[in-house]
Formats: sequence, structure tokens, C-alpha cells
Amino acid sequence: MSQTKKERWGTRLGLVLAVAGNAIGLGNFLRFPRLAAEYGGGSFLVPYFIALVLLGIPVMWIEWSMGRYGGIFGHHSTPGMFARMTKSRWGTIIGSLGVSLPLLFAIYYTYIESWTLAYATFSATGQYFTPDEESLKASLPPEVANVTYYGLLDSLKSEPAEGVRAIGPEKWTGSREDFDRLDLSRDGRLDEKELEKLITPLKSIHTMQFLRDYQGVTPAEDRVHFYSIFTAFVFWTITVAANCYILSRGIKGGIELLAKIAMPLLFVFGILLVVAVLSMGTPDPSIPTRNVWAGLDFVWKPRFESLLNPQVWLAAAGQIFFTLSIGTGSIQAYSCYLRKDEDTALTGLATVTTNEFAEVVLGATIAIPVAVASFGLVATQAIAASGSFDLGFVAMPVIFQQMPLGRVLGAMWFGLLFFAGITSSVGLCQPVMAFMQEAFGWTRQKSAMLCGAMLYVFGFPIVLLVGQGYLDEYDTWAGTVLLIVLALIETFIFAWIFGLKNMKEELTRGSEIRIPSVFFPIMRYVVPLFLVVILTSWLLTNLSSVLFLTGVPVENHSSIWLARGTILFLIGLFAYLTIISPTLRNAHCSNTLPQQEPDHDHDLD
Ligand code: ALA
Repeated sequence: MSQTKKERWGTRLGLVLAVAGNAIGLGNFLRFPRLAAEYGGGSFLVPYFIALVLLGIPVMWIEWSMGRYGGIFGHHSTPGMFARMTKSRWGTIIGSLGVSLPLLFAIYYTYIESWTLAYATFSATGQYFTPDEESLKASLPPEVANVTYYGLLDSLKSEPAEGVRAIGPEKWTGSREDFDRLDLSRDGRLDEKELEKLITPLKSIHTMQFLRDYQGVTPAEDRVHFYSIFTAFVFWTITVAANCYILSRGIKGGIELLAKIAMPLLFVFGILLVVAVLSMGTPDPSIPTRNVWAGLDFVWKPRFESLLNPQVWLAAAGQIFFTLSIGTGSIQAYSCYLRKDEDTALTGLATVTTNEFAEVVLGATIAIPVAVASFGLVATQAIAASGSFDLGFVAMPVIFQQMPLGRVLGAMWFGLLFFAGITSSVGLCQPVMAFMQEAFGWTRQKSAMLCGAMLYVFGFPIVLLVGQGYLDEYDTWAGTVLLIVLALIETFIFAWIFGLKNMKEELTRGSEIRIPSVFFPIMRYVVPLFLVVILTSWLLTNLSSVLFLTGVPVENHSSIWLARGTILFLIGLFAYLTIISPTLRNAHCSNTLPQQEPDHDHDLD
């Protein structure tokens, strides 16, 4: 533990910015708008805010207090903390989840983070602004070549005719000849069936094709923009190296310094983008319904019809965990550097509030309104439903091409995403850093090298197999389901095994605000119950598709099982490391005295 003893946060502001940076990430600007658009805007926000109050805030408080408690004994990752609270060797082993899970999360997260760095560069250079339209069109069937995908999609969804969605010649942007050729039933309109064969090739045009080519998902012979995934590899390598470097510089000189630079920039870029979006108004006056206010109205207007749909609840609760970085073990890896009497209640709440400002105010005010103003409401929902990142990487670039100062705004948008991403990924790696230092006495530099090596080695298949469901599998397990499992375990340990008296003492000691007493029963009863219900309903809905991969293309099966195998391997590896660690062996022994305060050597303002 000698290495970690010297670690400290430089200032309280630095700490708050670092934890806010940990929470504010790609989840705020990419995942949240996607979910909000897909699940009906305001009707997603109702379960989302309920989950925030009943899960997000209480679990955040638990993790802040748990981390501070562990830190008193010199524990900077969850194995030692769980051991201390459960007074059992099993606590140490189960606590290893708080090391393996954030690492698994970081492994796929840093790859997406690298796309943002790449796209910031492509925006500045205008690379996706000048698609080779001619060669793209040449690769499409003639009927499709002159049809705009988004225009078509929009017309399709908004033109119900006798219950069938169809479009007439007046909406058709291609030639009349092509229209007639496609109208097999000769009824003067193209119904969904007739249009179906158009949708697939049209999806591949322009920014969608650009993204797919970049990721290497397009078959080699059909690529237009990138002929190999070399570019993606280069940006990914730079991103992993940057994470590794920041981690090697430690808490104060690395993570805190990064947060002090990146967070203000993130907010400045975010606010400038919001202003640019709001000033878009109605970009095409001939279609007055497409305006930014319609987008804002869609996001903000509360609707209650979704409350009986369990899928929306799952998505909302999952997003709360993802966005706040709770259930990962990484909040504890930051709060463990607090002093024994330092506030956790106000700081924990400040973390949640800052994150929610970035998510609901900035995140929702950029991507959705801009997409609604440009493509219309229905097409925005269709784009959101078509893939996790399409709104951010496919729709936004289309818009930047049409906006004045598009290159600058594009570079700002992706720069914002990169800053948001990197302040989160270093937070997700910190538990592994702390664990290796604590459990094996490694130096910071050696731990950072290990972290970088693991991101690289285990990230390799993600880069290679992104189109075969490998990344999505990580997102399902490490980014959603297992976070809920870890949150359930830690809540049970803190609110039940640790004991009510201890729990209250840890939550209230040194606090600068009074935690309303209703939160104590919420932590003991509501949080675990809520989490059990979510997990059970997830299992009931998905068990057969999880086990038998129902609906998953056969060619993706091996890649999905490989992803599951590596996830299990890493979970097992860290459990094993806690067992063989010489320093953690006796961490559960309650008679060990707390370390002296000066060990933490804090200097918080
Ligand atoms: N909390 C981080 C995010 O929202 C992981 O992206």
C-alpha cells in the first residue's frame, strides 16, 4: 500500500471536477439522447427521473461513503472495502467485481472514445464533408441512386394510407421511371413491401457508409472512404496511450489535472453548441414542423403512457447506472482519498447534479433538437432506433455539413465527446490502478502499463469484431447488467451486513447537508427491491435470447461467445488475484486499526 498512501487530491474543486468528469461521458451525449429519442422523449424522462431519485442518488451516496470508509483503512479499491465491511474473506473475492467490471467497461468504452477523437479530426479536415457521391451512387441500384434515405424514411412513416405506410409519386425524389419500376402492384404508390428493398442500400449512403467504412464493418470490396481499419487502429492506439499516460501521472498530476482542463472546455463547447442549435430555428421554412422547438418539446414534455412498459424502466435504470458511473467501483476509487470527516453527502449530490445538467440540459438540447430540425421527428426516432451511436456519428455529421461554420462546430461536438470520454475512461481504469498498487505493491507506472496493456489486448477483438456483435455484448454485460448486479451487492453489504447504525454513521459523518431520513429506508428496502425487480424482469425477458442467441445472425454467434468468454475470464482473473494477494489476505480482520489520517496526506481546500 506504500504507493497509494502518497496519493491525494490537490484541491476540493479538483476532486469535484474529477468525479464529475468520471460521471459525465459518452453516456450523456450519445447514449442518453439515443434512448430518449427511441423511447418517446418525455415518456422516457418520467421513469428516468424516478430511477434517478430512487437509485441514482442513494447508490451515489452509498459509494461515496463506502469509498471514504475504505480509505480510512488504506483500501482504494472495492476488494479491501468489501472485506472490511463484511469481515469476511468472501467480501474480498466478491469485491474483485469492482475492479474487473470497470476494466471491462473501459475496454470497449475507450474504443468508442477513439472514434470521437477521429471524428474531431475528420470534422476539422472536412473529411466526411466531401463524400465521393459519384462512386457511392454507382454502387447503388439505379432506382435508389437519386433518393434521399432520410427523406424517404420520413415520408414512409408519415404517410399512412389505409393502415399501410406508403408513398406516392409526389414524395418520390427519384425519377418517375424508377418509381414505376418499383411499383410492382401498379397501384400508383409504393408500399412498405415495395420500398423495403430500397431501405437497406440507402442506409449505406454517406455518413452511415463513412462510419461503417471507418469501423471496417462494410465488406472490403464495398468500402469507399477507408480501405482498411488502419485509421481506426491509429486513433484507438493514441487514445489508449493517452489514458495510460494520464493514469501513470497519478491522482493529482494526472486525473485531477485532466479534469481541470477538460471539464471547463467541455462545458464551454457544450454551451456554444447549445447556442448554435437554438439559433437554427427552422432550417427549411418550407417544412415548418421541422424546428428545434419541436425537438425540445419532444424531449421535455412529460408523458405517462410508458409507465407500464418494463423495457422503458430497464432502459431508464440502466442509463442511470451508466451515466453516473455507479455500480462500477470507480466512484469508490475516487472517494477513498477523502479524509475521515470530509463531506460525502453534498459532494455526492453535487456529482449527480452536475452530471444531470450535462445530460438532460446539454445532452438533450444538442443531438435531438438538431436532428428533429433537420430530419423531422419520425426520422430522428428511426435513426436513434437503428443503432446506439447513429445519432451522434451519423446524423450530426450530416447536419454539420449544412451549417455555417460546420467544420468548427463538428470539431467542437466531437472534441466535447472526447473530453467527456477520456475523463470517464481514466476513472474506469483507476480501480485497477489502485488494486494493483494495493494488492501487490506495484508502482503507479507499472500499474498504468498493465492497464494500457489490458485495454489493448482485450480491446483488439472489439476493434476487429465490432460488426459482429462483440462490442454490443460488452455493452450489455459490462455496461448494463453487471453494473446492476454490483450495485445490488454493494447496497446489500452497506445497508444490511455493515449494519444500520454503521450505515447511518458513515452517511452522516462530516456531511455539509442533511440527507433526508427517508433515504435510509430507501437504501435498505427500495434500492435492493428495485434492483431485484429490474434484474428479474430483464432475465425473464431475455433469458432465452441470451442463452440461445435467438434472433442473432448465426455468423455472429462465435464472436458473441468469445466476448462472453473474455468477460468471464477477466472476472475470474481478478477474483483469483484477490485470493493470492498477500496484502488483502487479512483485510477482513476487524481488529486491524484504521490507518492514521496523515497517511492520506490530504490537502483539500
Ligand atoms: N459515466 C460515464 C458516461 O456517462 C461512463 O459515459
